[in-house]
Amino acid sequence: MSALSVANAANILAGLLFILALAGLSRHETSRNGLKFGIAGMALALVSTAWLVVKGADEAMVLVLLLVSILVGAAIGLWRAKVVEMTGMPELIALLHSFVGLAAVLVGWNGYLDHSTYGLESLDRIHSAEVAVGIFIGAVTFTGSIVAYLKLSARITSNPLMLPGKNVINAVSLVVFAILTVVYVRDPNVVVLAALTALALGLGWHLVASIGGGDMPVVVSMLNSYSGWAAAASGFLLGNDLLIVTGALVGSSGAYLSYIMCQAMNRSFISVIAGGFGVEGSPAEDRDYGDHRKITADGVAELLQNTRSVIITPGYGMAVAQAQYGVAELTRKLRDKGIQVRFGIHPVAGRLPGHMNVLLAEAKVPYDIVLEMDEINDDFDDTGVVLVIGANDTVNPAATEDPSSPIAGMPVLTVWNAENVIVFKRSMASGYAGVQNPLFFRENSAMLFGDAKDRVQDILRAL
Ligand code: TAP
Repeated sequence: MSALSVANAANILAGLLFILALAGLSRHETSRNGLKFGIAGMALALVSTAWLVVKGADEAMVLVLLLVSILVGAAIGLWRAKVVEMTGMPELIALLHSFVGLAAVLVGWNGYLDHSTYGLESLDRIHSAEVAVGIFIGAVTFTGSIVAYLKLSARITSNPLMLPGKNVINAVSLVVFAILTVVYVRDPNVVVLAALTALALGLGWHLVASIGGGDMPVVVSMLNSYSGWAAAASGFLLGNDLLIVTGALVGSSGAYLSYIMCQAMNRSFISVIAGGFGVEGSPAEDRDYGDHRKITADGVAELLQNTRSVIITPGYGMAVAQAQYGVAELTRKLRDKGIQVRFGIHPVAGRLPGHMNVLLAEAKVPYDIVLEMDEINDDFDDTGVVLVIGANDTVNPAATEDPSSPIAGMPVLTVWNAENVIVFKRSMASGYAGVQNPLFFRENSAMLFGDAKDRVQDILRAL
């Protein structure tokens, strides 16, 4: 059997393992197995690719390059995986998507520089079209992911960039891309390809820069989808079936995830993929909401002792403070006193899908008292005390009450309907979307300032 057919057989098996991985990852109970299938598929794909290179190598230099790149890649990957904080995962994922985009651009340019011809004009033209499309998707993914990384890691503001006529810029860029592709396919020319690359780099930057902080979760999953299509485009150029299959799997599952996230957040899918299309106006605001009221940990302990029902709505700040263990202990203590305690989890609380669920499970909070937003939103009316622990955008009434707010229309936890709302945070700063939160100024709200972990410990002591 030839080396190529063995590698092809291994690639088909790897493709199947990836499909099983996706199936497994779709449910809590099977997610561990899903991960194992994914790891096995990736290991098989790497070994078969490396083996094919080794078999076909006619110079020792090829082997040295292969070995060095595997070692450098593995070392960086292991180091990042070890040091990354849970809260830093989204930006790491965004950065990794940018690598896929960059790789697709390089593969595309390699396709241009490789002068081998198919000997048939129509096939050569198809090759040129693959080069143009591969570079375009790769470049948009590359710069888009870099902007997402910069926004998620707070290196640049998460406010949407509002260039005048931004929708026209996007539409014209697409038309120019189509024209450049036709010109390039008719006459492959370095200047046209360079212009196309520059255009795509600019468009990727602009698309993601135009999207506001609150929509970033959808952007990350959308870039995940783009990186899949970029990999598939590279697969066509390299004649690598596994890359085509894997890229299509990532591309379509990422697109579907973006679609369901848009539905959960009441956002238009088209608007988000078109860089906030239809969203005009600046989120900057300077409104006077009045005064806020402060409360001490002792005051909160007293409120808790005199109530029958408590709902805790955690957010990103609980993850930063690593307050979940104290929160779990507080939950046990209150339940021992016969007080009903439940958790309300917003679909985009924190910085990862399921972020809060993971933290609470880690701290051994029972699953059955952790409820989704839709399951708990009607119950705030009958609740004595809500503890908002490090959440901000996900409990912002402006989303439902202020149509001009950048987060207008996003479903939120309606905590303000409870009798008392205690907000744990360190300052009056806004949340991830950069929008002020009128909840803090309501009559039934009180601010418990400080690090969430320390304040929870203070309450535990007072109880
Ligand atoms: P955010 O709106 O991000 O607000 C978190 C709050 O926690 C901040 O206002 C901050 O206020 C407070 N905080 C930070 N560190 C703290 C600490 N050590 N102790 C106490 N408080 C602390 O949180 P959220 O309600 O969870 O909303 C999530 C946001 O992230 C949404 O806009 C969402 O769209 C976006 N996002 C989500 C995801 C996913 S998939 N979940 C991914 C990317 C982006 P202080 O600085 O005043 O303390």
